[in-house]
Amino acid sequence: MKVLVIGSGGREHALVWKLAQSPRVSALFCAPGNAGIESQARCIPIAAEDIPQLKAFAVSEGIDLTVVGPEGSLALGIADEFRKVKLKIFGPTRGAAEIESSKIFAKDLMIRHQIPTASARSFDRVAPALAYLAHHPLPVVVKAEGLAQGKGVVVATTHEQAREAATDMLEKQRFGAAGQRVLIEECLDGAEVSVMAFTDGKTVVPMVPAQDHKRVGDGDTGPNTGGMGAYAPAPLVTPSLQTTILRTVLCPIVDALSRIGRPFHGVLYAGLMIVRGAPYVLEFNARFGDPETQVVLPLLKTDLVDVMEAVVEHRLDQLTVEWHKQSSVCVVLTSAGYPGSYQTGLPIHGLPESRPSDDVLVFHAGTRREGQAVVTAGGRVVGVTGLGPRLAIAREQAYKVVGTIAFQGRHFRSDIASHSLQANP
Ligand code: AMP
Ligand code: GLY
Repeated sequence: MKVLVIGSGGREHALVWKLAQSPRVSALFCAPGNAGIESQARCIPIAAEDIPQLKAFAVSEGIDLTVVGPEGSLALGIADEFRKVKLKIFGPTRGAAEIESSKIFAKDLMIRHQIPTASARSFDRVAPALAYLAHHPLPVVVKAEGLAQGKGVVVATTHEQAREAATDMLEKQRFGAAGQRVLIEECLDGAEVSVMAFTDGKTVVPMVPAQDHKRVGDGDTGPNTGGMGAYAPAPLVTPSLQTTILRTVLCPIVDALSRIGRPFHGVLYAGLMIVRGAPYVLEFNARFGDPETQVVLPLLKTDLVDVMEAVVEHRLDQLTVEWHKQSSVCVVLTSAGYPGSYQTGLPIHGLPESRPSDDVLVFHAGTRREGQAVVTAGGRVVGVTGLGPRLAIAREQAYKVVGTIAFQGRHFRSDIASHSLQANP
């Protein structure tokens, strides 16, 4: 079977790594890929958003299954386009992917179906937004409605910050079209977890729960990023909480999307705040999380091709998805300045040529090859995933290798998973 993965980040490297293990895969391609993916798949220089070219490639190469990484391609309708010509694709249609690409659509659907979430109001003009903010209790959350690579959310602790965020989005158009409408949302206080699930629009199979670290600095300080590290399984999600998440969040949203004629096929990701033991939705994503994928896929025992095929063929109810009883921790190395502007093209030293040990995986994110050297090409550069029988051991494995990879301005958080370890030693 010929498989094509779309995207170029750490998530896509983890997808390629897992798919490469399937005895059913005879050829693996990635568009456009990165310097790490190159060693496991043939990289094709077509951008993830160039849907006509991707489609032409999939047709001419006779691709049997295409797996979409990034939200941008889904929001552009890649799944709709591929299905039109009977190409099998793992990922939701543009209509279903609106659960991520429009936070207002998602919020309305949650409210209509009594899915627990923070209360919110939407605004498309700055004056009413500012008037509403003036009387809103603090902290308050201001969100750009569209896709902003995890950077369009401001948790404001002062009215001035909140006003600035709303003005930046609505007036100064900091996020372009994605910020033409904003949500002003009640701030929830609790612990965050991410639960991703495979779904074919009927059956929902949750993955092991993970915890992301969104802020750039240790101790959850500084601005939000795409994700600085993650670990799984998150001990906070007990089996009974996992059942509640399935019953009150994942199943109802999948049903709701099917009922409005936008059945969701692929991976649905719920970003949740656990408030006094109960889950509230912060956001839905229409795809695998990054870096959650780098900790969740190494724990998947079942052949990923089998799972994806069952989703695409709407027979997920007939498959048992199994997991390794291990823990994993991923630490992301980023460029100086990220999530703001940063330099690229800096040589990366100490990248292992092969897997450093059975307990460590190095997933490239923003890297590219320049002659013999591998250089930085993005904000998130490399993710190191450690595995072990316990979280503490997985963490140790990851940090051991993190310290050996170097580039100018390298930054990483030194406290990935440590909060959980303090609570559950
Ligand atoms: P989102 O992209 O909507 O998940 O938001 C990014 C981050 O902002 C989340 O991971 C949370 O840390 C924070 N956040 C978003 N919405 C809320 C909320 N209603 N209350 C508290 N924190 C929030
Ligand atoms: N880790 C958060 C995301 O993938 O959006």
